[in-house]
Amino acid sequence: MIDNVSEKLIVTGGTTLRGESFVSGSKNASLPIIAATLLANGRHKLSNVPLLSDVNGFATLLTTLGLSVSHAKNRVLTVTNNHDGTPTQCHAPYDIVSRMRASILVLGPLLASRGTAKVSLPGGCTIGARPVDLHLKALQLMGATISINHGYIEGSVDGKLHGANIDFDKVTVTGTANILMAATLATGTTTIRNAAMEPEIVDLCHALLNMGASISGIGSNTLVITGVESLSSAEYSIMPDRIEAGTLLCAVTATGGDVIVHNCPISTLNTVIHKLQAMGAEIYADNSHIGSVHVIAKKRLQAVDVDTNPYPGMPTDMQAQLMTLLAISDGTSIVTENIFENRFMHVPELNRMGAHIHANETTAFITGVETLYGAPVKATDLRASASLLIAGLCAQGTTEIHDIYHLDRGYEKFEDKLIALGAKITRQS
Ligand code: EPZ
Repeated sequence: MIDNVSEKLIVTGGTTLRGESFVSGSKNASLPIIAATLLANGRHKLSNVPLLSDVNGFATLLTTLGLSVSHAKNRVLTVTNNHDGTPTQCHAPYDIVSRMRASILVLGPLLASRGTAKVSLPGGCTIGARPVDLHLKALQLMGATISINHGYIEGSVDGKLHGANIDFDKVTVTGTANILMAATLATGTTTIRNAAMEPEIVDLCHALLNMGASISGIGSNTLVITGVESLSSAEYSIMPDRIEAGTLLCAVTATGGDVIVHNCPISTLNTVIHKLQAMGAEIYADNSHIGSVHVIAKKRLQAVDVDTNPYPGMPTDMQAQLMTLLAISDGTSIVTENIFENRFMHVPELNRMGAHIHANETTAFITGVETLYGAPVKATDLRASASLLIAGLCAQGTTEIHDIYHLDRGYEKFEDKLIALGAKITRQS
């Protein structure tokens, strides 16, 4: 959980990143796959699980739900689930859920495996209200009785969940994950239309197949799940983190660097790679699913426009990092955030470093400047903290990034990776 609230990063700008790096396991694939261990008894072995505070938080949550979890330094996370399926220990408490919204991912698995769940309604966060109405409506269509009492989602099932036709009004990643997991043990067939196609959902599908689930349409926006009587424990390796990979490519590009990044999920990073190439970065990647990417940035970047969209569009989780690059690019650009209603919290902080950005709720207008200047800044959310770190790397002078615990939620030892490439960063409490 978050225990480094007072820490800050001190970044000395002006160094060029050079050398070789690597991508760790995906946070947003790990969390639903860890939740899926609720669906089957036995000993689950998940490898390449990143050492992150959000993963620690999820391990704590599963422990309160009666499972035992250990996360080794070699990134193997072992979950032992011997729960007898009775409606005990089905409470995901406020103090955990309020700090990690992804806790909502236990709702579907609990209803499917135990027939009952009490999960704190995840509040909003800095990037938006983050409602879960689509999750709840879909679970009700599958036979769950859902009520909201005193800030808690209380769900129960008379017998087992049953298959249903789910048409999501909006693409929801964790909503798709919740219904996908619930449907694996429901009686009959569930069809999810307008399903999220994010690679993390594909990874979850593969993990569920490994457990014995029956799923078709994987990778498309229509998933068909035929419920089975029971599932077996998982033995699965988590995909590399495409957002960490994209963030690394942005950091190298911002500093005019020359780096080879290994273990990159290339096939799911094309939108980001093409955008960086359009800005003038030289990026060489073979056409493998996972491989090495060589990024070289010699000349000043050219401004381009960015629109975030569900996969395979530009990931909203890359918006803040790309905005830092646009802030120092030659020309003007427009960034349109189509997913979340308040995901420009990094804008005032970048402006304090000398950027020229003005934004309304959905659109930011950027006029590139020659350079940014180091300043004390405040991280407001996970990806904003990454954008400020990239800004500090390419700014003149020193930048202090406060509330750096946001970064540790989703990036494993990120400053160590950057220091290994020549960055000058220290962490102070
Ligand atoms: C997941 O969040 C990711 N988190 C987010 O990553 C990511 O930004 C987001 O998907 C979009 O790609 C995890 O996977 C743990 P959504 P999620 O449900 O599932 C609206 C990061 O930085 N909506 O796809 O919560 C919602 O308000 C994090 O790693 C409803 O209206 O996002 C938003 O506008 C940040 N009702 C849009 O849909 C619902 O019931 C997409 O949200 C659900 C969602």
